[in-house]
Amino acid sequence: MRLRYVENAHELIEAHDRLLSKPEQYKESWSTLFKTEGPLYVEFGAGKGSFIINTAEKITDANFLAFERNAKVVSKSLTKLDEVDHDNFYIVCADVTNLNDIFRPHSVDRIYLNFSDPWPKDRHAKRRLTHAGFLEKYKTILTEGGEVHFKTDNDDLFAFSVEEFKENGWTLIVETTDLHNSPYVEGNVMTEYEEKFSSQGKNINKLIAKC
Ligand SMILES: C[S@@+](CC[C@H](N)C(=O)[O-])C[C@H]1O[C@@H](n2cnc3c(N)ncnc32)[C@H](O)[C@@H]1O
Repeated sequence: MRLRYVENAHELIEAHDRLLSKPEQYKESWSTLFKTEGPLYVEFGAGKGSFIINTAEKITDANFLAFERNAKVVSKSLTKLDEVDHDNFYIVCADVTNLNDIFRPHSVDRIYLNFSDPWPKDRHAKRRLTHAGFLEKYKTILTEGGEVHFKTDNDDLFAFSVEEFKENGWTLIVETTDLHNSPYVEGNVMTEYEEKFSSQGKNINKLIAKC
């Protein structure tokens, strides 16, 4: 383990060379963190990070950031981190609400949202990562033609999200309510939640939206 000391989850994150906790520091310089130039793909609400770790291993010519705000969840990525050799990714322990403090305008090429918290009550709708308020922020950080890739087991959240993207001027280039039985499954990298829900027989929804 490449750790100097471990007293709590935050210190653990500070001490690991694949984990970051103050993303605002890198707003002007994300690209200099990586060894090679390439498009920047980010995930918001990454959980333990296995999706980004596995995707970064497959797509070697892109650079990846996985954002997860819960430090205890991030600390659970450590076992996996010490098993990998590739270095085109970082896991960032931070909330993504203030995206304009973290990224320069039009500096992100792709956003992954995987099994985002559904916030089922109407009064909490603004907290959904596919709410119009977030979609506006995504437009400001995405490059022209940049994409949001969204997967969820939650059919109501998916229906809500499809409408939010369409009403806010995005083009849906992929839309399926049964990813695993669709042509879009080729090359699919499963997330931790996806493994759990699909093993229970739950259909998985997916969309790709272009801004
Ligand atoms: C349901 S889990 C899904 C985890 C993972 N993406 C997967 O598919 O296995 C959603 C995660 O998003 C994180 N999250 C929710 N809102 C967030 C935000 N505004 N910023 C960063 N992380 C967030 C939560 O802490 C939680 O770990």
